Amino acid sequence: MQVLSVTSEIFPLIKTGGLADVTGALPKALTRFGISTRTLVPAYRPLRALIRDCPPLIEFEDLLGETASLYAVEIEGLELFLLDAPALFDRPGGPYIADNGHDHPDNWRRFAVLCLAAAEIAAGSLPGWQPDLVHTHDWQTALTSVYMREMDCKVPVVLTIHNLAFQGQFSSSLLSSIGLPPSVFSTECLEYYGDICYLKGGLMTADIITAVSPTYAREILTARFGMGLEGVLAARRSKLWGIVNGIDTEIWDPLQDPHLFARFDQKTISLKRLNKMELQNSFGLNNDDGPLFAAVTRLTWQKGMDMLAEAADEIIHGGGKLIILGQGDHEIEEQLKAVADRYPGRMAVQIGYDEETAHRLHGGADSVIQPSRFEPCGLTQLYALRYGCVPVVARTGGLAETIIDANDAALSAKAATGFQFHPVTTEGLRHALRRALHAYASPKEWRRLQIQAMRANYSWERSAEQYANLYGNLVKQPVVRKN
Ligand code: ADP
Ligand code: GLC
Repeated sequence: MQVLSVTSEIFPLIKTGGLADVTGALPKALTRFGISTRTLVPAYRPLRALIRDCPPLIEFEDLLGETASLYAVEIEGLELFLLDAPALFDRPGGPYIADNGHDHPDNWRRFAVLCLAAAEIAAGSLPGWQPDLVHTHDWQTALTSVYMREMDCKVPVVLTIHNLAFQGQFSSSLLSSIGLPPSVFSTECLEYYGDICYLKGGLMTADIITAVSPTYAREILTARFGMGLEGVLAARRSKLWGIVNGIDTEIWDPLQDPHLFARFDQKTISLKRLNKMELQNSFGLNNDDGPLFAAVTRLTWQKGMDMLAEAADEIIHGGGKLIILGQGDHEIEEQLKAVADRYPGRMAVQIGYDEETAHRLHGGADSVIQPSRFEPCGLTQLYALRYGCVPVVARTGGLAETIIDANDAALSAKAATGFQFHPVTTEGLRHALRRALHAYASPKEWRRLQIQAMRANYSWERSAEQYANLYGNLVKQPVVRKN
């Protein structure tokens, strides 16, 4: 089976968050089901070097007034189509945000062009290759199925919701500029409170919708988590599934990780201590026996990092230490830095995006904290499990179903892997931190939690099989696992 995956980011080429990890890892995991994926992604400025010496596969004369070329590149085991539309993608800044910290003002056009190119490929404009199925991700690629419907292209489409908070909502006056007829401006398609909403268009036209965990798939049917789209999702609930993300166990492997000072597995977990020392030294923290907590995340309201700023004293007064790596809202960055200033030698904040430090933090921390107000899946807690960091998480979305709370039942069944808290408030977080500090005080109990965490299997294996079966049902081809 041939699949076209359409995405605005993919690891290791361009990443702002978990979306890239998923679109980078899933194609590899699907190969063992006989599914071959090609991924369409924009040729952003940092990616253009990859196409310098290649001839284009095809040139699009006119994608919404843009001329664009499509290149096929294979890199790190990924088969990519790079869409080169220099006026849209060859510019400074990130995939969504310009250097001035604001969204690129023409994001509506940039991602519409990407979707239109995807639809053209789905409809057969590439000589010699046509997908059996298209997989789109989030609002940036959700218009693909709208364009396909307008082209009468019957190739089935799966749309995965990674985060409903980002919807691609724009003025309806732009409709004619994205090459769609007035008929799509209806409640059955793009219309959304008088605007157009790319994600809604995708939700209404994709054949199957998946969310990145079953819990999130349920949560988004409620007003609290549905972000205004709960009605749309309820109307399509028979097509909505939840499939939890996996992790790339080659990139996130404490035994092979090139970024770690000391590599380890379950048997040699005591070596983790060397990583902890190295981390504490490099962040200027004391080398006493207290537990080292870490958070690696976007610093946003979603991630509850303001609550962590408020609860950090619980860790420090309990004899622990805290390192935070992240970037995001300026206000939360400043709030966290101000708390760290109060606790020299015990708390450090590194503002920025740094893949290597993310690995080192998982390698050395005793616990990773994720106090998210909502979390569609979450990947850091899964990396934490594999690296023997005992997670402290809010009981929501993917966090609720990937971490087993160390309650009495789970402890006696030797199943606990972390600490959950609910309600998701600063007080709730404080309570969970106290429980973690208490457990750490008993080395035997802590070691057991670490080993149980490391035994949890969140490789892509199970989830890829679920995607494979979903694809198979849609294209009416049974998929068979090969080994
Ligand atoms: P989200 O996609 O909502 O940001 P996830 O937990 O799914 O959350 O994925 C976040 C990914 O981004 C993980 O791979 C995490 O390690 C990485 N990440 C987040 N912030 C940073 C950072 N400041 N530096 C390095 N990696 C980061
Ligand atoms: C989103 C979500 C996160 C999820 C990731 C990958 O960014 O916020 O929870 O893990 O997508 O699916």
